[in-house]
Amino acid sequence: MDELPVPQLFMDIYERLPRQGPGLAECTGRALALMGELPRAPQVADIGCGVGRQTLDLAQQLGPTAHITAVDFYAPFLATLRAQAAELGLDEQISTRVGDMARLDFEPESLDLMWSEGAIYLMGFGEGLKAWRRYLVPKGLLAVSELTWLRDDVPAPCRSFWEAEYPAITTAEQNIETLEGLGYRSLGHFALPVDAWEQDFYVPLRQQLASLRGEGPLGDDDRAVVASMDQEIRLFESYSAYYGYVFYVMQRTD
Ligand SMILES: C[S@@+](CC[C@H](N)C(=O)[O-])C[C@H]1O[C@@H](n2cnc3c(N)ncnc32)[C@H](O)[C@@H]1O
Repeated sequence: MDELPVPQLFMDIYERLPRQGPGLAECTGRALALMGELPRAPQVADIGCGVGRQTLDLAQQLGPTAHITAVDFYAPFLATLRAQAAELGLDEQISTRVGDMARLDFEPESLDLMWSEGAIYLMGFGEGLKAWRRYLVPKGLLAVSELTWLRDDVPAPCRSFWEAEYPAITTAEQNIETLEGLGYRSLGHFALPVDAWEQDFYVPLRQQLASLRGEGPLGDDDRAVVASMDQEIRLFESYSAYYGYVFYVMQRTD
């Protein structure tokens, strides 16, 4: 992918955050625990890894026999991940690969575990699950987090915001039906707590936005980027009970 699908300022802001989406080490661990026992030396891929906070957590939680290939289409994120992996002594365990999640170049049935936090929406939940299944070994494992309605009585401003931003947003029941229809068995699911949005994502994002505003007037495109991030944060402040990221943990049925 040569051209960025979002303005450069968007990536510049995100590059300075510890994560590029909601997540917490405890949630990564909880999803991993739902999988039961893994092979002794699992081959793992983390798709749409960003700067890879969860890649590092996974590497630590899986231990030195695991190998993780972290894939993202934005090379500067991967450079940050490599630097942090080296600092933590995890560089033997983690390789990085610039790639498009819609055209992964893994061998068929070569991965024991596929992971993707806050990124499958870029393909669509069902599309991603369908496309990635072929890379998993039989009975291979997959964990993804996906924006999901948490309640049925979503207030209109919240519903219309997300239906415009991400029309495919649906309920956990519907997503489980989708995954079961695509040759997976659900091993469990859970919603990420508010802290997973705040700690490493919205708290530092608010700081980035404030310091950008302090640097003086922005051009039209950059102002639009900042305004849309502000709007998303404000929506969350009012309506976090109604939507959130849900971790879906599953296994190939055959
Ligand atoms: C919302 S971020 C999540 C990053 C990380 N998993 C996390 O939770 O912090 C989505 C990531 O997907 C990457 N991405 C976007 N389109 C992609 C594509 N077509 N192929 C691979 N990565 C992509 C972005 O660069 C970004 O790092």
